[in-house]
Amino acid sequence: AELAPLTTFRLGGPARRLVTARTDEDVVAAVREADARREPVLLIGGGSNLVIADEGFEGTAVRIATRGVTLRGTAMELAAGEVWTDAVARTVEAGLAGVECLAGIPGSAGATPIQNVGAYGQEVSAAISEVVAYDRQRDETVTLPNAACAFAYRHSRFKEDPARFVVLRVRFELEDAEGLSAPLKYAETAKALGVGPGDRVPLERAREAVLGLRAGKGMVLDPADHDTWSAGSFFTNPVLTSAEHAEFLVRVKERLGAEVIPPAYPAAADHVKTSAAWLIDKAGFTKGYGDGPARISTKHALALTNRGAATTADLLALAREVRAGVHEAFGVTLVNEPVFVGARL
Ligand code: EPU
Repeated sequence: AELAPLTTFRLGGPARRLVTARTDEDVVAAVREADARREPVLLIGGGSNLVIADEGFEGTAVRIATRGVTLRGTAMELAAGEVWTDAVARTVEAGLAGVECLAGIPGSAGATPIQNVGAYGQEVSAAISEVVAYDRQRDETVTLPNAACAFAYRHSRFKEDPARFVVLRVRFELEDAEGLSAPLKYAETAKALGVGPGDRVPLERAREAVLGLRAGKGMVLDPADHDTWSAGSFFTNPVLTSAEHAEFLVRVKERLGAEVIPPAYPAAADHVKTSAAWLIDKAGFTKGYGDGPARISTKHALALTNRGAATTADLLALAREVRAGVHEAFGVTLVNEPVFVGARL
């Protein structure tokens, strides 16, 4: 059972078994049966955040193909297998704000809570009311309210405990702002729209601005464009303690000069989030870096791409080179953002 075509990287060996599940009951049954056989389970949604080893997967891969969108007032429920971009378009059509800046993100709705998908100033955690999941440990379906999901930057309870929960449905509480977007938090988006940060714009304009920005960074899937044969950001943006950040600034000054100021984003108390793309770029891995079958995207330093003939080994070799180069230059260790299956850095 080939898995590579189910991933946006188009990489990875086959699975021992592949099951396509079209209802919640099918999903639960497939996982339950594999668990009973003590066989490893790999859940595949949109395959946009997945790095599968060339050796493949010795277990059951379950393709989540459930469908269902329910909109009632400001509440929306999505089946895990729904295509996320389509769901975003539906909210915009319905005049509801909260996820319009998450337009153009590849993958399935059920994957969004796992790594708390975020972009352009929005994170799904701000709009999710609850998540319905199959709890493999207790062998029952549970409903986790937002507060029980332990959402953080690119993190959640589901990611913490990856073998326990299978997301079945995601429920959202959106805002009826009379056709306007949520206040724009990301400077780049506000600038593209010619408004100030914190302003609201018509929903469809916000969505289109984000789609434009993403396309310019190679972050919108296009089978004909190798720049999009990626998993989007390959590394998370490093969150440094204040002490680590101070050390980091010394390294930057030594290497690049006193006038260079690295990006700094808000993070938890006593922490600073900096930019993985910036670190990679400034360590010398600029857009288009590489001459092998796996290279850095020509549009964004944070996207590693398969130029068509790569193997997972090629991709991992590039990722290790980038990680080592950034560590040598700035003393910061990058952490992979996609889920690795049988592969490691
Ligand atoms: N930059 C470079 N070189 C590049 C690209 C960017 O130096 O080639 C620098 C620029 O200084 C820029 C900074 O990096 O200001 C940040 O770049 P960008 O605004 O594109 O955002 P990002 O931090 O790289 C994050 C998310 C993206 C999300 C964008 C927009 C992570 C790991 N990535 O990227 O999410 O779309 O912000 O909000 O948090 C994803 O998770 O797969 C993803 C695409």
